[in-house]
Amino acid sequence: MNTHSPYYFDFRTAIIFVLVVGFIFVAFQLADDIGLHLLQSPGAETENYVEPDYGLGSGHIDSLIEYPEVNNGERTPFDLWNYGGKGSTSFMNPELPMSWPEWIDFHRAQKPKLMADVRDYMRSRFDLTPVAIPGQFMSGGRKPIMKGPVAKLTPKINSYEDLAKLGPESIKRRDLFPYKPLAHPLQSTAHMVFPDAWNKSHPEHIRIDVDHDYPDEYLPEFPAPMFLTTHKELGDVTDGKEVTFGNYYEIFDGLLTPEQMEGLKELLRPTPTTWFNQTTHRVTVEPSAGVSCFSCHVNGHTNGAFELAPDSRPHLARLRVGTPSMRGNYNLMQLSSKRSIRSMDHFAEIEEYFDGDPGMMQHIGPRAHQKVVANRMGDFNAILDFPPAPKLDPLSKLNPAKATEQELKGEALFWGKAKCSSCHYGPAFVDDSSYDLQVERFYKGRPEGPIKNFPLRGIKDSPPYLHDDRLPTLDDAVEFFNLILELKLNKEEKQALTAYLLCL
Ligand code: HEC
Ligand code: HEC
Repeated sequence: MNTHSPYYFDFRTAIIFVLVVGFIFVAFQLADDIGLHLLQSPGAETENYVEPDYGLGSGHIDSLIEYPEVNNGERTPFDLWNYGGKGSTSFMNPELPMSWPEWIDFHRAQKPKLMADVRDYMRSRFDLTPVAIPGQFMSGGRKPIMKGPVAKLTPKINSYEDLAKLGPESIKRRDLFPYKPLAHPLQSTAHMVFPDAWNKSHPEHIRIDVDHDYPDEYLPEFPAPMFLTTHKELGDVTDGKEVTFGNYYEIFDGLLTPEQMEGLKELLRPTPTTWFNQTTHRVTVEPSAGVSCFSCHVNGHTNGAFELAPDSRPHLARLRVGTPSMRGNYNLMQLSSKRSIRSMDHFAEIEEYFDGDPGMMQHIGPRAHQKVVANRMGDFNAILDFPPAPKLDPLSKLNPAKATEQELKGEALFWGKAKCSSCHYGPAFVDDSSYDLQVERFYKGRPEGPIKNFPLRGIKDSPPYLHDDRLPTLDDAVEFFNLILELKLNKEEKQALTAYLLCL
């Protein structure tokens, strides 16, 4: 053998390598055979495991459809409550499934058809012809409050009262429930969808792929008034303006502490995020500076923009969530529908602009908020007040000298027969707990599990209702709870409850 061959050394190394690997493999096999797990013990396993039903019945995984594999941008079912289980990955890919020009063309072709179908779907569920409650306006004094219930019943059922008589099993069996979950209209791409009124003032947020599905009449006033706990004497501190990066200093200098001012500035500063940034992982024609907290929580309230809750995977399992108001957060200890975040500064710190996905963050660029900045955002949030409720006394009870008979009747129901006060009480009309309302008792589909309770103070200002916007009006919210709690209230009682909610 020629030991000077250039191959000799490599050949010998290869043999040694194979022997060593073989030895390690055999050693691990032997160790495994005698029950010794050198890398990771396997954990215990129940023999002949049969899963109990846990009372899930038709909400159990076997009765649900497996989530389809969809690429970003591809249409998704509107009835996502029929789906359940595990997806293929928890992580997102920042690359588009096609080139940028193809992406634009794809959506140019898909969007008109998608939005026509979204409008048809919304029309099939709700009658959204705007009818206002006479004399009732949101806190700014101009935007009328819509009358309901507007959820459609099947022709087989004459009235909501007849429906309520049937009870959960019968409503489920006959598929009659008018308040099934509402999905994001394009859940594959998902993320933030802004209302038309917002897009008109901020065309940089118009999406190439999807628009909001509710007409303006059923959304909060824009811009909404802003009330501060520290300046009750001023009423709306904005004088009817949207607070922006350009005007905040002028409006708030002389009203805020330097820390609050700094916090407000950061709540107004746009940051690149998933789908709104400078890269081609984007749903805007032009590169985007991103969004700010107040792009959705306009003036510390909400403009009705929605997105997906960040707390589950696959993406098709994520619940649609409408933007909650930030008003009165100083009274809450539980934030976000499922994440149970305990303070506003903590929320600002972790707000998942990248869906919590490290790959996405690397692609778009980090959002480098330091703890001290998040604390200041919390400082400002802590002085955003609920709107005035002139009919309530210091114990949050109606003042009989100011309230109508109907409103007083509604209050008596709220604190009595209608059971609302079991969960909604105190100065914010919320108990700061999460409840599993077990809505799946009324329809066949995936249970949504516990959801955080929301305050009812100032509730007239923030339609549509429930975490996923499925209740267009307060009357629908009353019908919903009449069914869920099996109250069987009559029409006059339900109208009185709505009249009371309008006072809060
Ligand atoms: C897409 C519009 C949008 C933007 C931008 C946005 N939010 Fe939100 N915000 C939401 C939605 C939707 C929820 C509900 C999330 C959930 O239920 O899981 C929410 C929830 C919250 C909550 C909890 C409210 C509650 O009642 O539970 C706080 C606090 C909050 N946001 C603060 C912020 C801050 C601070 C920022 C900026 C760092 C921000 N948000 C940016 C839409 C937005
Ligand atoms: C068992 C506790 C419980 C009771 C009782 C209850 N609620 Fe609620 N309420 C909740 C929870 C939890 C939510 C949020 C559910 C969700 O988003 O899926 C909620 C949400 C609401 C909302 C929507 C809030 C928003 O910002 O979107 C309204 C309105 C409401 N409740 C009114 C009532 C009325 C009226 C009654 C009495 C007829 C009532 N609730 C009884 C727990 C309760």
